[in-house]
Amino acid sequence: MCGIIGVVQKNEKALGEKMGIIIRDSLKRLEYRGYDSVGYAIIDRNGRLVIRKAKGKIDDLLKRLEFERFDGLVGVGHTRWATHGPPSDLNAHPHTDCSRCIAIVHNGVIRNYQELRDELASRGHMISSDTDTELIAHLIEDYLREGFEMIDALRMIMRKIDGSYAFLVISCRETDKIYFAKKISPLIIGLGEGFNLISSDIPGLIKYSRKIIAIEDGELGYISPEKIYIENIYGERIDPLSRVKIIDWTIEQIERGGYPHYMLKEIYEQSIAVRNTLASVAEQIRDVINILLSDRDIFITGAGTSYHAALVMDYALKYYLGARSTAFISSEISLYKKIFDKKSVLIAISQSGETIDTLNALRTAKERGALIISLTNSVDSAISRESHYKLYIRAGPEIGVAATKTFTSQVTFLLYLVSELLREQDPDTGSLIKKELEESPELINRYIKKIDKESESLASILKDSRNIYVLGRDISLPVSMEGALKIKEISYIHAEAYPAGESKHGPIALVEKDFPVAFTSLGFEHNHVMVSNIEEMKARGAFIIAVAPYSDERIHRLADYSFLMPSMKTMAASILYVIPYQLLAYHLAVKRGFDPDKPRNLAKTVTVE
Ligand code: M6R
Repeated sequence: MCGIIGVVQKNEKALGEKMGIIIRDSLKRLEYRGYDSVGYAIIDRNGRLVIRKAKGKIDDLLKRLEFERFDGLVGVGHTRWATHGPPSDLNAHPHTDCSRCIAIVHNGVIRNYQELRDELASRGHMISSDTDTELIAHLIEDYLREGFEMIDALRMIMRKIDGSYAFLVISCRETDKIYFAKKISPLIIGLGEGFNLISSDIPGLIKYSRKIIAIEDGELGYISPEKIYIENIYGERIDPLSRVKIIDWTIEQIERGGYPHYMLKEIYEQSIAVRNTLASVAEQIRDVINILLSDRDIFITGAGTSYHAALVMDYALKYYLGARSTAFISSEISLYKKIFDKKSVLIAISQSGETIDTLNALRTAKERGALIISLTNSVDSAISRESHYKLYIRAGPEIGVAATKTFTSQVTFLLYLVSELLREQDPDTGSLIKKELEESPELINRYIKKIDKESESLASILKDSRNIYVLGRDISLPVSMEGALKIKEISYIHAEAYPAGESKHGPIALVEKDFPVAFTSLGFEHNHVMVSNIEEMKARGAFIIAVAPYSDERIHRLADYSFLMPSMKTMAASILYVIPYQLLAYHLAVKRGFDPDKPRNLAKTVTVE
């Protein structure tokens, strides 16, 4: 996700460097978050708003962006990770209002983007970028023109915009303040003597301050060189000093948000990632709904984790809509080649958007006349560029090689799409899926620490195992497949997912005393026979692990180790039920002495066939 930094100082010596250099260095420390464009705005000593921004990496843009040239008392900087609109000079932040007096940088996704854009355009605003961020600058402009103070304008805008955001605003009319507002996306103030800073992330400000205040959801305010003002959306003041914390982490720890590994950070970030996915899915899928409801053959493809997300969608289409969809592994394209024609639609799923197998599958289907819809995390990737319709999960950059938050975001997006496809055929089920998806971020927050502890103690039991089976039926199977993939790629324990019912047709031959066999049951699928499958394994001495609803006593009674999961009624449960496996894989890797962020022989993006 985007990185933001704001600096305000009493005089040009307060921080010992030129404002441009301070911003450049802070942005460098936010680079690890992933980005495609850079920009900053400074109000110079003549009160002039200077803006420099471009697509590309900071080190390649040093000359063009002239960081060393500009000084001033207030400035904001931004590293953009594209969500609305492709990476480009124009879409890079900061964005301004029509009068170019207000500059804004933003991290997050505005859900009611289209509605706001139409409204602003109808009032004559010149909107020059494709971003959601620019709209906030124009909204501020309107309120200020009506005579409101900036703080009141921001409060009203927070009520008007829907989605996730942390944004900073500077104005040529108030050159000693940086205004801010936050919902979901992180925002942290760093306190100094004669200066203050504000950033999306501690690394952005750590060089100058270790005294921080974390801004909470629904809060807004401003920082000036000597003052911090915070209030909530109801206008109630908050005492900033009651929130001050001292940071004693190393820079490395800070970049991982205090987590020992990116993988763990990203597992914990899933509630935010799923929220961000939900914030933009409805607006994105409008055009593809009719295509998928028309009389077309639906194919879904991906590799690795993205294939498992494809399977979840395939199961959902069949189970809820009775659709004749086909999910296939993208490198297996040759098998399907002759089936594609003008009546086909292919949904190509890829976190990176660069996986060559998936790109090849897309090209093959396209050549034969199929319509291509892509679902990626990276904006403007090869896969999205070559698609007719480009959809984005907007989960934020994923640094760990193991896909975690991008899987749950892919599933969230795809199940939301299915819930919309059900609008005519079965609106009640559609609404129920949507409701459970909307509840998922909160459920993740509520359960994740408990699951983490339980996974860690299970990892202590299993760390010397050589094999693990992960079994499931129906929708529990893709979840089990994703669980097994996580375990094998990170901990190097051979983990095999299998349909539970099929296990007695071969895999059971390997089972002997203490052989670990995990059973996934989301609770609502046809799992009544799962109990017999567990009994069969138990009779051979297997060590049974259950990931099942807490209410499913039959399963938990048979298990040697249980994850008591919340009871859910729809396939949205696959989001929560994969987490025990992600955390088990993580703890197994750590206990076995491996680096979970960099598994051997694997790359984050696979661009070879
Ligand atoms: O970027 P993509 O989603 O296309 O990547 C596909 C696979 O390479 C990827 O999911 C891989 O299997 C991960 N290491 C899984 O954790």
